[in-house]
Amino acid sequence: MQKVAVIGSGYVGLVTAACLAELGNRVICVDNDKKKIVSLKKGIMPIYEPGLEEMVLRNKKAKRLNFIFSIKEATEKSQIIFICVGTPSRSDGSADLSAVEKVARAIAGAMKEYKVIVEKSTVPAETGEKIKRTIEMSNSRKVAFDVVSNPEFIREGQALTDAMHPDRIIIGVASKTAEEIMRKLYGPLKTPIIACNIETAEIIKHACNSFLATKISFINAIASICERVGADVEKVAEAMGLDKRIGRSFLNAGAGYGGSCFPKDVDAFIHLAHVKGYEFELLKAVRRINDEQKKVLFKKIEEALWIIKDKTIGILGLSFKPDTDDIRNSVAMDIAKMLISAGARLKAYDPKAMPKASAELKGVKFCNDPYEAARKANCLLIMTEWDEFKRLDLEKIKKLLSHPVIVDGRNIFGPAKMKNMGFIYKCIGRG
Ligand code: UGA
Repeated sequence: MQKVAVIGSGYVGLVTAACLAELGNRVICVDNDKKKIVSLKKGIMPIYEPGLEEMVLRNKKAKRLNFIFSIKEATEKSQIIFICVGTPSRSDGSADLSAVEKVARAIAGAMKEYKVIVEKSTVPAETGEKIKRTIEMSNSRKVAFDVVSNPEFIREGQALTDAMHPDRIIIGVASKTAEEIMRKLYGPLKTPIIACNIETAEIIKHACNSFLATKISFINAIASICERVGADVEKVAEAMGLDKRIGRSFLNAGAGYGGSCFPKDVDAFIHLAHVKGYEFELLKAVRRINDEQKKVLFKKIEEALWIIKDKTIGILGLSFKPDTDDIRNSVAMDIAKMLISAGARLKAYDPKAMPKASAELKGVKFCNDPYEAARKANCLLIMTEWDEFKRLDLEKIKKLLSHPVIVDGRNIFGPAKMKNMGFIYKCIGRG
């Protein structure tokens, strides 16, 4: 059992804290948002993530997981301190690290004995070194400490499985003592551990997210060519994926990537490379293709409806991907806003994201189910591939729509089947 503090109870922090408690450690989770801590103490989750609530409640009940406001108290009571605070993008694409710096100073001020300070927030390379310098400057008692970079690879919607069964764990570290402490912490997961220096660990995180974003933009570029020559991108992806060197995952053509990670991380890596004197042209193209994908989709809606103004469009899916209520950088939200600006009347349905989306989308009618969104609409637009949508009663949808038009931004139905059913069906990269 190790004594752990997790500073920042957002997505990464809360999942990290719950999973480390599940492994038998005593974990204190901290946040400066008092309302959030009060709610968490009552067992109310600030986000939707399958299984998280149960895991938090179980570990709270077992007194392995606790929520408090004070970084000082959490630092005093713990040996390993994870920094999991937000690192939002600035307008130039660089990451705003002011929260990380503030937390590092607060930890330094509270240290009375050796601590391992772990950077888990997604940060640009060389942040570990900056955290170390910051702590040295505020460490008036000259207490020994080590900084570790331990990047996170959890996906929203599958965060608990990813955290409990990771493909690998990265420990960027400069001291044997800290390496041993971290190996002991993650030992029960029985997963390969890559120990390396801090900078290497930081670049591993940049490289993984950028590579995955590259796969998505690559297949979206292939989809655009498929449409021009009458090929089927789904078959292309399936065949490419069977080559073990390539793999099938992250080759789903669609409306493009969104979320709180890929867009921000790609920007940050391009920015970091630029500052270091390398123009990352490949990643700039990845970003451009992703941005253009929204226009590709919008054009398909225009092709289907001709004039968008005053048309009623049903939107299925608002979250940036299925199994989450997260709408940050959601392509669905961007398209909804583009349609509103073009004068469309929107009816929307999402299984989880409507409470968050309703604060941002004005004048939209939020519906109780997908069928209500389709009723009397000129077109149904699929933006997030929730399982619920894959199982829709399409005959019923056809009857409800005022025109049998479906624009599918996530390729969840096959064009042949839809055509046979009498739909005008537009998807991405399929003939
Ligand atoms: C991503 C990474 O997958 C995680 O490994 C990483 O830990 C996380 O970022 C992070 O840096 O914190 P996440 O943003 O939760 O996780 O979501 P993904 O499942 O990777 O999907 C990202 C976006 O790509 C979504 O908008 C999704 O719809 C899109 N996508 C994904 C595609 O358009 N096509 C695909 O084939 C796969």
